[in-house]
Amino acid sequence: MEDINKSVNDAVEHFRKLLLSQIERENNMENAGAPKDFKNMETITIGVCGGDGIGPIITREAMRVMDELLKDEIASGRVVVKNIEGLTIENRMEKNQAVPDDVMEEIKSCDVLLKGPTTTLKGGTLESANVALRKALDLYANVRPVSIPEEGIDWTFFRENTEGEYALGSSGISIPGKLNMDFKVTTESGTRRIARAAFEFAKNNGKTNVAIVTKANILKKTDGRFSEICHEVALDYPGINVDDYYIDIMTANLVNPAIRSSFEVFILPNLYGDIITDEAAQLQGGVGTAGSSNTGDRYAMFEAIHGSAPRKMERGEGEYANPSSIIRALEMLLRHIAFTDKADRLSKALDICLESEKKVVMTGHADGATAAEFTDYLIDTIKSI
Ligand code: IPM
Ligand code: MG
Repeated sequence: MEDINKSVNDAVEHFRKLLLSQIERENNMENAGAPKDFKNMETITIGVCGGDGIGPIITREAMRVMDELLKDEIASGRVVVKNIEGLTIENRMEKNQAVPDDVMEEIKSCDVLLKGPTTTLKGGTLESANVALRKALDLYANVRPVSIPEEGIDWTFFRENTEGEYALGSSGISIPGKLNMDFKVTTESGTRRIARAAFEFAKNNGKTNVAIVTKANILKKTDGRFSEICHEVALDYPGINVDDYYIDIMTANLVNPAIRSSFEVFILPNLYGDIITDEAAQLQGGVGTAGSSNTGDRYAMFEAIHGSAPRKMERGEGEYANPSSIIRALEMLLRHIAFTDKADRLSKALDICLESEKKVVMTGHADGATAAEFTDYLIDTIKSI
C-alpha cells in the first residue's frame, strides 16, 4: 500500500507538470507570428531527410524528380537543397533523442522539409521522430488529400497534428502492477487553428461540405469541445454545410459507395485522423499512393503517409518500394512554396504514369518495376509535358 501511495503522489506531481506544460503550449499558440510569404522570399531552403527502412530509397527518387523540376531555381540559387543526415533510428537510439539536437538545428535552418518515413519504436520512452518534429516545428495541420476520380471522390482530411492523444503519448502514468494511463489534450487555440485551416481551404477551393469527425458522445471534454469550436469557427463561413459524425460510422461511410462521394473536407482530432487517412489512402490504391503535408505558420514538412516498411526491407524488396507517396508529398511541397506550375506539371505526370498510361507498373515486389525504373518513367513524362 505504501508503494502505491508513493506512486500516486508521484503521478499527481507528474500530472501537475503536464498540465502546466500544456497551458504554456496553448499560450505560445496564441502568440504565433504571421505565416511565411514564399512568393517574395529571395532564397528558399529545402531540407531533405531520408529516414529509415525504405525511406532513403524513395526519398532518393523524389530528389531526382525535385532536381528535374527545380533545376533552374537550384542553378540560380533561388532554391537551396540541403541533405540532412542523422535522422535514423540508430543515431536517435544512440543519442537517446527523438530528433538529435544537431539534426534539429539543421532542420530549423530550412524553410520546408521533405522527409522519408522514420521507424517508431513500440513502448519505451523514445518518442516518434515524426511526432517530435511536428511538435518542435509546431506543424499543426496534417493535410491528406485522397482522390478517386472515377467515383467522383475528392476528399481532403485536416488532421490536427500536435495534440489529442499524441501531445502526451510518451508521458503517461504507470502505477506498477495496477494500471496505466495516457492522456488526451484538446486546447482552444489548437482546435481553432485546425478548424480555421480546414474552412479556409473549403472556401478557397469551392468545397461546401465539411464533416467534423469525433467521438464526442464518449470523450465529452476533449472531443466535445473540439466539435463545439469547429462549429464556432464555421459561423464565419456561411455558405458551407457542417455536419458532425462519430468516427466509427465515418469509418463505415468511407467504404459505403452510396454516400462516400458526397464528403469533401474532414476535420479530425489527431488519432482518428491518423487511422482514417490510412483507410482512405488504401481506397485510393494503397498507402504508397498518398502524400501528406504537415504545415505550421513557420515551418512545413512533407512526407509519405506510410511508415518505413521494415518487413519489406527484411524481404530484400526495398528497391521495389513505391515512391509515389513521397513524390505526391513533393507535389504538395512545391505548391506550398508557391511553385504552382511545377506542382501542376508533376501532378499531371503522376496521373499519366499511375492512372491513364501505366507503361511502367510497380507491384511492390520483384515481379514489378523498381522505384528507380518508375521514376525514370515519371521524369521522362515530366520532360514531355
Ligand atoms: C502518420 C504515421 C505517424 C503517426 C507515425 C509514424 C508516428 O502513422 O504520419 O500517419 O502516427 O502520425
Ligand atoms: Mg498513420
